[in-house]
Formats: sequence, C-alpha cells, structure tokens
Amino acid sequence: MYANGVRHFIDTMDFTKEELLDIIHLSLEIKKSIKAGYNPPLMKGKTLGMIFQQSSTRTRVSFETAMEQLGGHAQYLGPGMIQLGGHETIGDTGKVLSQLIDIVMARVIEHKTVADLASACSIPVLNGMSDYNHPTQEIGDLCTIVENLPRGKKLEDCKVVFVGDATQVCASLAMITTKLGMKFVHYGPKGHQLQDSPSAACLAKIEENCKESGATFLTSDNREDVKGADFIYTDVWYGLYENEMPKEERVRVFGDYQVNRDLMSLGNIGCKFMHCLPATRGEDVTDEVADSDSSLCWDEAGNRLTAMRGLLVYLTQYQREAAPSELQIAAAKEQLEKFMAERGIN
Ligand code: CP
Repeated sequence: MYANGVRHFIDTMDFTKEELLDIIHLSLEIKKSIKAGYNPPLMKGKTLGMIFQQSSTRTRVSFETAMEQLGGHAQYLGPGMIQLGGHETIGDTGKVLSQLIDIVMARVIEHKTVADLASACSIPVLNGMSDYNHPTQEIGDLCTIVENLPRGKKLEDCKVVFVGDATQVCASLAMITTKLGMKFVHYGPKGHQLQDSPSAACLAKIEENCKESGATFLTSDNREDVKGADFIYTDVWYGLYENEMPKEERVRVFGDYQVNRDLMSLGNIGCKFMHCLPATRGEDVTDEVADSDSSLCWDEAGNRLTAMRGLLVYLTQYQREAAPSELQIAAAKEQLEKFMAERGIN
C-alpha cells in the first residue's frame, strides 16, 4: 500500500513476486553479515514505534532487537500506554507519530486499524498482525523455507501444506506461497477453512496469484492431499481473535488435524515441520514432532528477527534517498555551534 507518498507493509499482496524475493534475500544477506560479525548501521538515528493492542513474544522482541542491531531505537507502545483507543483517533495518532518517529509497526485487533493508520501516516507502517493477515511472519517463514529447500528443488517445486484452523497465518502463507509460484494446500475441517474465516477476502487474491505465477491452491479435508508435502505447517486451533473454544470442542473439531508422527509420515522424505508459535503442545502438535530433527519452528522464530531487519531496511530506503548530504550536515552543525557560542552555551 502507498499512502502520502510512502510505501507501507500491510499486505504482501501489495508487492510483486520480485519485490518479495528482494526483501527475503536482503533479509538473508543482513543475517549473514551480522552472523559474520558486522552489524550494518542501516537504521542509525532512527526510531521505530511499536503499537501493540495485543500481547506478543516473537513480534515484539524481534522488532526491538532488529532496531538495536541496526543502530536504531524502538519504543514499545503497549495496550493502554498511548491515547489510541481513548478519545484520539487512529488517524490523529498516525499524524502525530509521523512528526515524532521514523517508522511504526502495529499489532492490531481489526485489520482496518492498521490500514487506517497507514492512510494517515507519512512514515512507513508495518502490519505486525491483524485479524486478516500476518505478513511479517511470512517473510520470516519464506526465509526459513529458502534456507531449507529440499535438495535440487526451487521454491516453485515445493508443496506447503498448512494443517488445521484457517488462521490469519494460514491466509498469509497461502498468499505469499501462491504469489511465489509454489503449491499450497490447506488441510482443515469444513467450517474452519479460509472461506469461513475473517481472511476470506484473500481467496480472490490467491486465485489471481495462481493465474499469474502458475501456483496451485487447494482447500481439502482429505488426508490424502497432505501426501508429497515438503513443508507441513500448523498454528493453534483457535484464532487469537475468537472466543477460545472449550478444549473438548477443539479436540472434537480439530483432533484429526493434529501434526503428529503419523501425519508427518505422509510428507516427502525429509519433509520439515513448521509452526508460527505459540504452539499448544499436545493439541496442534505433539512434542515428538515439535522437538524432532524435522522441526524448523525454532529456526523460524529466529527468522522473525531476520525478516524484521530486512523489512525495516527495505521500507526506510525510500526515506534515505531524501537524507541530507554531508555538506548540508556540516552547514547545520556550523550554524548551531555559532548560535550557541553567541549565547555562551557549550
Ligand atoms: N508468531 C507470532 O506472531 O508470535 P507472537 O504472537 O509471540 O508475536
């Protein structure tokens, strides 16, 4: 989404396949550099505002760490800590933050809130998860898939099967994999598939992606469709935005969709397990799978940081084009020093 001449990261569908691959590869290059001991100061002097309407471990910690590693600073604006939700509108909050900081992320209850924030802001806005999608998660997930491609396969050759409830992570994963030309299956029970979810609008975009990229998309409650998966992915059995179902009801609806050793055996040899986390061990995934050699869920959590660094740099590069020259900086310094010297301020 573009608003006020600024590019925002609200939905991966606002980016082309090439742009998404650029962000993924930029994220992986910065990761390599930091691992080798060089932290590029690409966010030096910049401040990120982090609005959270809900709790978070991975998103909050990875954004804050990313800013610190790149020479910037992050401010946590948690529930009840700013005027948002009181008498100040989201639009006014966006205009004010645009005067005070350089970039903002928001984890929101309703997708409209982050879209409205972006419409008002003249600084880049990142969507840290809404009831519709979770795009920063998907950049991290694709970094993890790129790092773990089956031998001899390209992204386009890979089959990703999302198992269980059609959460916003399922919707985001379906959108990005089909944009990139991959094979995507949602294996979930009737009544809990994408068309039944708050993300149903993504289906039209997925259909368009498949036509453009040659990707395939299938929703199924047939276990046979898990066969041949290269990556089996799951999420919790209750959306973070719904009233949690009683445990007995969850087990009745989703029990057959638990990722356990039996389900993993339907995948290709070397099939990997992924989970956005948090997991409800013993429900959506067994300990045996989560802690197995096939599990990528810890790498995936680490790649939230990889993705945040890449996204922060990618989105602020447009702002850097307008950065002052060395000459302008020297002139500003000289003028301020003169002003202070005239008043005896050291
Ligand atoms: N996967 C994810 O977004 O985790 P958090 O809710 O802890 O940020």
